[in-house]
Order: sequence, then C-alpha cells, then structure tokens
Amino acid sequence: MDTGQNIVTDKTPSALFLVLTVNDGGEDAVRDGIEGLDGIVTTVSSRFPDATLTAIIGIGSQAWDRLFSGPRPAELHPFIELTGEVHTAPSTPGDVLLHIKSSRPDLTFEVGRLWTATLGDAVSTVDETHGFRYFDMRDLTGFVDGTENPAGADAVATITVDADTDPDFAGGSYVAVQKYVTDLAAWNALPVPDQEDAFGRSKFENVEMADDVKPTNAHTALTNLPDVDGEAQEILRDNMPFGDVAGDGEKGTYFIAYSKTPEITEVMLRNMFIGDPEGNHDRLLDFTTAITGTQFFAPSAQFLADLPP
Ligand code: HEM
Repeated sequence: MDTGQNIVTDKTPSALFLVLTVNDGGEDAVRDGIEGLDGIVTTVSSRFPDATLTAIIGIGSQAWDRLFSGPRPAELHPFIELTGEVHTAPSTPGDVLLHIKSSRPDLTFEVGRLWTATLGDAVSTVDETHGFRYFDMRDLTGFVDGTENPAGADAVATITVDADTDPDFAGGSYVAVQKYVTDLAAWNALPVPDQEDAFGRSKFENVEMADDVKPTNAHTALTNLPDVDGEAQEILRDNMPFGDVAGDGEKGTYFIAYSKTPEITEVMLRNMFIGDPEGNHDRLLDFTTAITGTQFFAPSAQFLADLPP
C-alpha cells in the first residue's frame, strides 16, 4: 500500500517553507534534487535522533508535466484566485514546495541550505519563510491555532488520496499554501471581545463559542463545513507565525493545509473571501491580507523513491 510522506507529526517549534519555480532547462536537476532529499534529511537527522525532522515536497500543476511523464494527479490544478467584494485571495507562482519542520530551527535551516545548494541555478526562489512556534501554539493575533485539527489516524485519513479515487496517486496529498501579512497595530486596537467574535473562540482559554452566539462571519463559522454523506469535510493545517520585528517589517501567518482533495480547502476559501452567504466574508480578513496562494501535490513516499521517467 502506498503511504504518504511524513506529514502527520506533533506540532514542531519551527518550520521552513520554500516555494520555488523551475528554470528552463532545470528539470533534470530538480528531479535529482527530489531523489536526493531523503538522503539529506537522513544526513542531518541521524546526528539528532531525538529531534523531529521531516521535509515534505510538493509539485505544482504547471511543473508536473515538465518533471514527469505519464499520468498526473486527477485534481491537480493551479490555486484558484478568489475576488470577493472586499478581499482577494491571489494565485501566485510556485512549481516546488518544500515544507521542512523540526523541533530545532538549526535543523530546518540546515536541510533547506543543503538541499537548495544541490539545486543551484536550476530554480528561482519565489518565497522563503521561516516560521516559529509562538507561546502555547498561538498565532500572532494571540489566538491558539490548530485546536480543531484532526489527529492521529483521522489526520492520515483526512489528507490521504484513496486508491479507489485515484489509483496512480494513492497515498499522496494535496497541499495549499498562503502567506498572510497581518496589520497587528489594527488588530491590537480591536477590543478583545471583538477579536473573540472574529474567531468564534475565547482568547485566553481558547473555548469555542456556542452556535447561537457565534457571529456568522467568525473565522470558525465559515471554515467549519457540514458533513457530506456522513463524511467530515476537514483539512490538516500546519500554520506557523513568521515575521520581521522592526518598523513595517512583514509579519503574519503562513497558512498550509493538507487534504485528500483540494476541493475542501477551496470551499473554505470561498466562504472566507466571497462569503457565506455571498458578501458575509471572514472578519479575520479585515486584519490580515493574503499575499500568495499556491496549490501543490505531495506524492506518496513510493512515488518519490521511484520517479517515473
Ligand atoms: C480554525 C487561525 C486561515 C481553516 C482556526 C482557529 C484559528 C485560526 C486561531 C481556531 C482554532 C483552531 O481550530 O485552529 C487562522 C489564521 C489564518 C487562518 C490566523 C490566516 C491568517 C485559514 C484558512 C483556512 C482555515 C485560509 C482554510 C482555507 C480553518 C479551519 C478551522 C480553523 C478548518 C477549524 C474550524 C472549526 O472546525 O472550528 N484558524 N486561520 N484557516 N481555520 Fe484558520
């Protein structure tokens, strides 16, 4: 049975998100890089057996056919741009995603450094974001992020493409990323009860509001989807805060979500940006702006170990 890359881990204190494009003529070097990644992770992790260290690779829609012959993942397409009445989710370039996570920031750095060195000028960097755990898993807004994530076997089932849906790509996962820049001055000027309304949870204790008091434009009201045919419509988020402290330095949330189909994330994004009902957009977006948006497919471990020609 095909199994996924090492995506479901305990929440790590640090992560590095790299989005790259493949330069013309760089395809062979990138294929070599994909094959060499496991060796680099082992080189680094074998010296620190107690430190969680994993590197997950995703391939974008346009790059897929440049890198591999044969079939492609059934639902792999570029990130769908969304333009609501007030807020926009842009779709931005990206051929390769590397999501490195570890309990040690030096190890995420080292894997990223060694791996990009092997790629040289075969790739261009679109974005490099170093994320960190903030207190007790809080976002920079001060709210605990990740509480309602599926865990354990549920998490694996949530993110894994089934053999009967897409036999060639069973074991893989779809991955969406968005970099959000937060206006912390505006957010911090908002009274805490209004901040709590924006998330639908209490700030200090992280308790969810009852349905009859939770505003319809709360982030958790718009992203909690009803079951379809008795099946939960969930994604696995591994968001991280990031940022520069001085002056107007960019700071915010690096959003990353794994799922068995991109459609679930897309419905959540529609609810947030277009609104549900239309016009009732996510209150959180009045304080945080998506500046990137890219969709990838993270193939199974077996696919990566034996790439098609
Ligand atoms: C819940 C933060 C973007 C999907 C939450 C929670 C926080 C949070 C604090 C409540 C606790 C939890 O269950 O994790 C953020 C921030 C974002 C962001 C700061 C960006 C700036 C997104 C996006 C999506 C999403 C883009 C989906 C496309 C969800 C889901 C939940 C959630 C599914 C759980 C809802 C529930 O069942 O209660 N988020 N989020 N989030 N978020 Fe986000």
